[in-house]
Amino acid sequence: MEAPSGAGPPTFLAELAQELADLEARDLRRRLLEVEEVLPGGRVRVGGQVLLNLSANDYLGLAQDPRLAAAAAEAARRWGAGAGASRLVAGHLRLHREVEEKLAAFKGTEAAVIFSTGYMANLGAITALVGPGDTVFCDRLNHASIYDGIRLSGARLARFPHRDLNALEKLLHGAPPRGRRLIITDSVFSVDGDLAPLKELVSLKERYGAVLMVDEAHATGVLGPGGAGLAEALGLTARVEVHMGTFSKALGALGGYVAGDRRLIDFLHNRARSFIYSTALPPPVLGAIDCALEIVRREPERRRRLLAEAAVFRQQLAAAGLNTLGSETQIVPVVAGSNRAALDFAQALREAGYLAVALRPPTVPPGQARVRFSLSAAHPPEALAQARQTIVRLARELGLPRT
Ligand SMILES: Cc1ncc(COP(=O)(O)O)c(C=O)c1O
Repeated sequence: MEAPSGAGPPTFLAELAQELADLEARDLRRRLLEVEEVLPGGRVRVGGQVLLNLSANDYLGLAQDPRLAAAAAEAARRWGAGAGASRLVAGHLRLHREVEEKLAAFKGTEAAVIFSTGYMANLGAITALVGPGDTVFCDRLNHASIYDGIRLSGARLARFPHRDLNALEKLLHGAPPRGRRLIITDSVFSVDGDLAPLKELVSLKERYGAVLMVDEAHATGVLGPGGAGLAEALGLTARVEVHMGTFSKALGALGGYVAGDRRLIDFLHNRARSFIYSTALPPPVLGAIDCALEIVRREPERRRRLLAEAAVFRQQLAAAGLNTLGSETQIVPVVAGSNRAALDFAQALREAGYLAVALRPPTVPPGQARVRFSLSAAHPPEALAQARQTIVRLARELGLPRT
């Protein structure tokens, strides 16, 4: 008998190919871009060409910092390459406890728990905290991992327009009296680069007896006097119940976290399935996180420099009439409109020596395709000055929408 081809029913692969062709026809097909070499100064080599990387989330330039690489190597030497089991089984190393204690001190909370990624932290925390009968109030532009967590939880999704406090209040007012009410917001929105109205969200959640969860993925290491995020910057740490974030962006490593009251963290150890049923974060990554937390604490000038450069970048692009939406941070979008326009803009930038990826639906709303620039403390100021000029020139040449 002939061995099965592995191709499944005759129509299976043809159907997938058809879906890919449909995506292609709508300028929505995604392809992997191979980085051949990572170079100093926030540069990469792609297709033989050296590009200034304006698309990474390595905001403090720590991903390539030799101290993180050395700390990772040292942790691997002492503890091995893998943790060997999930945390509740036999994978909870002293290193996990030490890094979690350091993290809690950094965040200004009683305790903290580390997940394998930020995605897993959102999935685990949300599904543990809410379920059928509960309601989650979610900013429309929150990250996909938050939406996935809500869907998986079975809780009711009450989505409010981006940063619209009146709409949120109406939803809170009309919510069923029974069941938990959880408000979730990104603190820095990942594709618009603007900030959540955190002070007002805290007031609303207190008025309506809700719980507030803040995703500080793009703020950790960047905002606040100690780099802990927007809640710290606004002096609101103690009034937010669930602090979530990731080590994969400004901290240059990998792994997500939730920080808060000891009882919250103990509860997550018992109920967060992405924590319970997944192997513990490996020692080299913990070594890198530990080192990154230390650098964030000791070198505040990195985030100050980043934010100062970002302010100049935003101002100059906006002054040239480009639509940078409400960006207030190191993430600066430039709206192109159609998917084609965003792809053409990204291609023109690439030819000019810049890696800046086009974001299209479903990552952004239809008609708001854009190129998202993200700055890093690793970028030399002169390279950023050049980049600003080139971006403005190309945007004009391509006829991008003006404000
Ligand atoms: C706001 C936000 N939350 C969560 C995540 C997920 O984090 P990670 O990349 O560590 O899985 C991201 C990153 O893509 C993000 O932008």
